[in-house]
Amino acid sequence: MTVSSHAARAHSFNSAAAQYAANRPSYPAALLDAIEELAGRRLAGARVADVGAGTGISTALLHARGADVVAVEPGEGMAAQFRRVLPEVTVVRGDGNHLPLADATFDFLTYAQSWHWTDPSRAVPEALRVLRPGGALALWWNTDAPEVPWLAEQGRRIERAFGEGVPAADRNVSDRTVDPTGRLDLVRREVRWSRRVPVDTHLANIGSHSIFLVRGEEATAAFLAEEREHLMRAFPDGLVEEVYDVILLLATNARP
Ligand SMILES: C[S@@+](CC[C@H](N)C(=O)[O-])C[C@H]1O[C@@H](n2cnc3c(N)ncnc32)[C@H](O)[C@@H]1O
Repeated sequence: MTVSSHAARAHSFNSAAAQYAANRPSYPAALLDAIEELAGRRLAGARVADVGAGTGISTALLHARGADVVAVEPGEGMAAQFRRVLPEVTVVRGDGNHLPLADATFDFLTYAQSWHWTDPSRAVPEALRVLRPGGALALWWNTDAPEVPWLAEQGRRIERAFGEGVPAADRNVSDRTVDPTGRLDLVRREVRWSRRVPVDTHLANIGSHSIFLVRGEEATAAFLAEEREHLMRAFPDGLVEEVYDVILLLATNARP
């Protein structure tokens, strides 16, 4: 991906914030349990910054666990949708490369499906700056479970049509890509979960990925119409089970 197409894709979500909020999957309770276990502290009462918060899907879960959470989001469209969905949580405009947050103030810094939009050579030092000693940086992505045949076939169709897969779905994400500075001691967990949704929700979910949003409505509509036919042949009752492995990477900010 070139630098300009990376930037265009990072901003593409703003044009589809309502679609995103209505159709993207959330994350399972077991993910939050794993974050607490690996960090060695509870989210309840913790000071948390959720970065690249989007429409608030990840922030809502942290808030419901009792975290004292502030959201950071660069895009106006996503932030406007966030304010409609979660008016009780503060969202500030900013991004992971220059966090609008004070030094050593957070117990957790979370990036749900958003770390890959940062420049990690800048986002890593920023994360270490705002975390308290012993605080945890948690990054996670919903990725398609690899052994589910219909998801693998769909992944191949997307790659054929667009020349690549959806960026957040790369389950082989390496420590080196995530942290080129080598300053993070990352631990990894996978959490399997699934949801059963109507085919149209699934299509609106995949259509809210940047790879489709930057391609334009016509090409996207044509791909999704064809995809709908594949899915209705495979699932005549019109329901699909999306099966996800959430890839969680977590590092704690070493005490001085
Ligand atoms: C795929 S959405 C994830 C939203 C939310 N965390 C969730 O779990 O649904 C990615 C978000 O990252 C934001 N983003 C783009 N560039 C960013 C950056 N440099 N730092 C932090 N977030 C960024 C986008 O505006 C978008 O809202």
